[in-house]
Amino acid sequence: MLRWTKTTSHKPRVRVSPLTSAESVLKIRSYMPILEIHNLVKTYTAPDGERTTILDIPNFTLEPGEQIALEGSSGSGKTTLLNLIAGILTPDRGQIRVAGKDIALLPESVRDRWRAEHIGYVFQTFNLLHGYSALENVELGMMFGPGVDKEFAAHLLERVGLRERMRYRPSQLSVGQQQRVALARALANHPNLVLADEPTGNLDRRHTDEAIALIRQICGENGAALLLVSHDYHVLGKFDQVRKLDEINLAAQAFAEAAAP
Ligand SMILES: Nc1ncnc2c1ncn2[C@@H]1O[C@H](COP(=O)(O)OP(=O)(O)OP(=O)(O)O)[C@@H](O)[C@H]1O
Ligand SMILES: [Mg+2]
Repeated sequence: MLRWTKTTSHKPRVRVSPLTSAESVLKIRSYMPILEIHNLVKTYTAPDGERTTILDIPNFTLEPGEQIALEGSSGSGKTTLLNLIAGILTPDRGQIRVAGKDIALLPESVRDRWRAEHIGYVFQTFNLLHGYSALENVELGMMFGPGVDKEFAAHLLERVGLRERMRYRPSQLSVGQQQRVALARALANHPNLVLADEPTGNLDRRHTDEAIALIRQICGENGAALLLVSHDYHVLGKFDQVRKLDEINLAAQAFAEAAAP
């Protein structure tokens, strides 16, 4: 960046700063965690009216391109956490920033588009649109983001092994195939952050191995960070970095203490 500064002789001189403004922005971005969680608290009201704290996470961060598997048993709050990160649920307290943005503070209309552009979410229950083909499901995901890229949509479906099934609707696909469509859709907008909720829960061992290798590879190719939650030790074993949800979640520790004899 060129910047004019005044000298004592009142002659302007050019000072060359070490970085251009574009470089500075890139540099700052590359040091900024893609996900930052601070003092997050989420409670639910049980049917008897009692409020239960499900999550109480003082700190959790994910760096750009980092791939972490989060281990947690059924009911430990994995889906709740991912829904909070995606801005589908709002926290009772605390901040969640994705790429520096607190998504809960965005107006709802802006939030949907922002999520589509930055976050790829492989839902535990897929959330595919049943009136549309596999290809249309991926393309529809692109409509909320930077725009439809038919070639890339088809390429992603090929990558997840559904080349011959692109025109099939979800009801004409096996559960495992639907899961792979959900994976392709999550990657469609080149997200900075991919959230994967038990993304292989319905796949056999071979397809599980392939799907995990694929999701890690495509995230790696695109520089996307990956946060995958699972209780499956086979899946967790595919990751270099595994964290236990109960270790970062004080609510689980309080629950365990209360339950101890
Ligand atoms: N809307 C709700 N109202 C009350 N309690 C809820 C609600 N949604 C979830 N819970 C409770 O929050 C806890 C965590 O649920 P969550 O779906 O996040 O678990 P999970 O770790 O994803 O489980 P699984 O591995 O079975 O998918 C559960 O005990 C559940 O009963
Ligand atoms: Mg879940």
